Amino acid sequence: MGTYVVTGSASGIGAASAAALTAAGHTVIGVDLRDAEVTADLGTPEGRGHAVGEILSIGGGVLDGVAAVAGVGPDTEDAAAVVSVDFFGPVALLEGLRPALERADAGRAVAIGSNSATTVPLVDEVLVDLALAGDEDRARDHARAAQRAAPPELTAIAPSISAYASAKFALARWVRRTAVTPEWARRGVLLNAIAPGAVLTPLMLGSTGAAPDQSADDFPTPMPLGVFGRPEDIAFWVHQFLRPEARFATGAVLFVDGGTDAAMRPDAQ
Ligand code: NAI
Repeated sequence: MGTYVVTGSASGIGAASAAALTAAGHTVIGVDLRDAEVTADLGTPEGRGHAVGEILSIGGGVLDGVAAVAGVGPDTEDAAAVVSVDFFGPVALLEGLRPALERADAGRAVAIGSNSATTVPLVDEVLVDLALAGDEDRARDHARAAQRAAPPELTAIAPSISAYASAKFALARWVRRTAVTPEWARRGVLLNAIAPGAVLTPLMLGSTGAAPDQSADDFPTPMPLGVFGRPEDIAFWVHQFLRPEARFATGAVLFVDGGTDAAMRPDAQ
């Protein structure tokens, strides 16, 4: 049985992922702002450093898998916080824990992006470039400036909708670029991303104003399956990507969104 890290383990998709791994007999090191084995704020460099140190200490320097799930939604007031938590948080954690994954027989990592990266037409390429350049200060400043300059009808939808789509877009691009570098691929550490769609969690309900019993057909984006996702529906794929038997997938971005991305962009591959 292995040792796995799940960030965002106190709620929603992270809690369901931790439960799936625990049910399979593994040891789970949960990381969250509260109610977790490691309490840390992944929105700050200090918090990320603290989390990596604690995880390595608990895991004895060897980890079988890491699921970077923690995130905040587009309803977050401060766009800079979205950039820090949703992009720099997972990137720093995955980079910091990569050597521990390499020490396992079959190290696996998965990051949770979002289909907002492809279905929300508000990706800010400048913000994406600043994030991928690793410049957190400038990325945060840019996100705030863009938020201030955005038309009110846009921020009325959700105050950080562009920063959210951009941070998730950058995260998926980082996964694809990073997974194929020799440091990851040739050392046997596989890295993939999942892009969920609308999943019934506090983040989704808070960000969209949807009601838990609302029909998925009334959602603003198409929901071909006619239902919202449950946290377990994403946790299933988190678990699959983390299995040692998942030996030939790396750099993949898997949409688990009830068909929304396919409905909106049927010809994109
Ligand atoms: P949630 O709100 O139920 O869980 C998020 C967890 O992340 C919470 O436990 C929260 O405390 C933790 N977290 C937030 N900021 C943190 C920080 N600074 N440091 C440490 N932990 C922090 O939300 P949900 O829906 O389970 O979200 C999980 C991931 O899935 C997020 O990355 C989100 O962007 C992504 N996602 C969710 C979708 C949905 O419809 N629910 C759709 C697409 C992506």
